[in-house]
Amino acid sequence: MTNEYYSGPFKKPKMKSISELQPTILTIFGGDGDLTRRKLIPALYNLYIDGFLPGKFKILSVDQRDVSQDDYNKRHYEGVNQFSRRGKADKEKWKEFEQYITYVQADITNNKSYNQLKSIFSDIDKEWKVEASRIFYMAVSPNFIEVLANHLNKAGIAGNSEKHRIVVEKPFGHDLESAKNLNKVLQGIFSESQIYRIDHYLGKETVQNLMAFRFANALFEPLWNRNFIQQIQITVSENVGVENRAAYYEQAGAVRDMIQNHILQLICLIGMEPPVDLQANSVRDKKLEVLHAIRHFSEDNVYVNAVRGQYDKGWIEGNKVKAYREEDNINKESLTETFAALRFFIDNWRWQGVPIFVRTGKRLQETTSYITIQFKEVPHKIFPSGVRELVHPNLMVISIQPQMGIRIHFQAKKTGLDMQLKPVDMIFNYSDSYSNDPPDAYETLLNDVMLGDATLFMRSDQIEESWSIIMPILDVWASNPPQKFPNYPSGSWGPPEAEALIAHDGFYWHTFTEPLDINPNAPSLAKKQS
Ligand code: BG6
Repeated sequence: MTNEYYSGPFKKPKMKSISELQPTILTIFGGDGDLTRRKLIPALYNLYIDGFLPGKFKILSVDQRDVSQDDYNKRHYEGVNQFSRRGKADKEKWKEFEQYITYVQADITNNKSYNQLKSIFSDIDKEWKVEASRIFYMAVSPNFIEVLANHLNKAGIAGNSEKHRIVVEKPFGHDLESAKNLNKVLQGIFSESQIYRIDHYLGKETVQNLMAFRFANALFEPLWNRNFIQQIQITVSENVGVENRAAYYEQAGAVRDMIQNHILQLICLIGMEPPVDLQANSVRDKKLEVLHAIRHFSEDNVYVNAVRGQYDKGWIEGNKVKAYREEDNINKESLTETFAALRFFIDNWRWQGVPIFVRTGKRLQETTSYITIQFKEVPHKIFPSGVRELVHPNLMVISIQPQMGIRIHFQAKKTGLDMQLKPVDMIFNYSDSYSNDPPDAYETLLNDVMLGDATLFMRSDQIEESWSIIMPILDVWASNPPQKFPNYPSGSWGPPEAEALIAHDGFYWHTFTEPLDINPNAPSLAKKQS
């Protein structure tokens, strides 16, 4: 436990009851921002309703705007009504919950603000007669993180490595170098065990379930390797456009926004070896091994393995939508990619030669995230060829959202006098199996920070390794501007080059609608491989 990365007690039991959680002061920098309104306050409100906040708890929402406590509460009550997974807030419960919130108008670049916080902390500690845990949530634009860290350090209010934690939102850096610098700054001030780098995908129920599914079942693990799996696909698509995030997204693009973090983490969970236990570092070490083993692109092969796209105007759910370059505050000649499709390989014993295709983008046909594991064909085909034409490969489809479940797609004999094969599904749906609503990712993550459990957070070495995987793509793309942007209509599945990328290996993208439906236009795999 003296490892510099040691980051918390044995994970479990999670969701401790009120009495077990330490008295806690949660300070949110960016307390009046979008993330706080859409995610953090609704998540905290739901934790309150479910009884998972500490008995002694305070939220200090720090922001610059001159706003009264009443107005702040009202705005965030409306935020809960709009964004909470439970729908509209219960007025009585909200009244109780809002007692926890204090709005602190302060400029985070000014020393005085930190003195102000210091005296608030000491008042609260006096009132509670205990030295409370302090969590500093940095829900601010990335260029303020260093500033905040330095101020916290100077004010001496976050230096207790047992009791003080900081939470850093993504993006963590803009490239490998800036991520390394930021790690250096933060680790110069805090110990690694105090730093909680958020990747909210890791808090999603279905993403956490990947570990349970793989390591709590004996059935699948023997098949989980290059001997049985032919290819893996990850689709994380959204039908929304850039929304009101032009300033951030223009600098980011799809690879930085979704692949460097969320999608590489999904690959880790699919590809990792079983950890010896569920301690944060046991899990994170195994994930890091996957990142180490991911084949790095060379300058020459970026174009064989990576496709970029930008959305043009088109139709989404019957509504006409603008091209990316026509959106508010977007450069009319923007070269930012809003779509990316990549092919990865994991160079290790388990995965050698198994391609992992990922695609993600804005303004695609649907908002959906799923992982498809395609198994190899049977080694010997005994069914007559007419029947075989209908054979689809065995698939396992792990739906992350909005559907939540796992489907196994396999062949069965169709009822009747003759032997006809028909693919069928075995389906596990969360909604059929569990009656309780899954918590939002931010509920899980906030609860974990309060518990001091860093398993679902990014360690510095993971962040740096993830950046180093995608840097060659970003560099090659930056020095070779795309010639044909925009190159896919809104409402499609991306540019034709993404189809070509996967077709090059003899595959096609699995696109599912509800109920799981093999794309009828896709060429039969049996045909391709015969
Ligand atoms: C964020 C990205 O990290 O994830 C957004 O910055 C994206 O661009 C979002 O829309 C998707 O998250 P979720 O939870 O809605 O799938």
